[in-house]
Amino acid sequence: MSVVILSHKKLSYRWLRFAVTGIEELDRQHQELLDRMNELKAILTTGAQQETIHQKLLELRQAFEDHFADEDQRMSSSGYGEMAAHVKAHRAFLEGPLLKTITDSEGQVGYDLGALIDWEASHISRFDRPLAEFLAS
Ligand SMILES: [Fe+2]
Ligand SMILES: [Fe+2]
Repeated sequence: MSVVILSHKKLSYRWLRFAVTGIEELDRQHQELLDRMNELKAILTTGAQQETIHQKLLELRQAFEDHFADEDQRMSSSGYGEMAAHVKAHRAFLEGPLLKTITDSEGQVGYDLGALIDWEASHISRFDRPLAEFLAS
């Protein structure tokens, strides 16, 4: 499959502003996820072999699973009232492929890395920040 990366301008470290929750360990994990996504972008744009892409995707998925497990644990142990919806969002995310395929305006099929970044950014602002505020209060 040829590689098309849409909305790649969003893949900059400026995105880090979205990753700040104020909980140090969670921010470290969000930073790691962002680093891995940037690494994946570099690999995809340089035309790596499928095996390498597959391996990096497996590692990224594991990093998401570990991160979600940590957040789920924090919600559970703190009695967070919004836990059900937040855990549901984590599970729904893991049920699908990390990278969806997409067809661009010229009919070229490729991986939609922009959608992955968008998901993470919007998840942090919608779910992780309110959780962090609760944990800090
Ligand atoms: Fe989360
Ligand atoms: Fe998170």
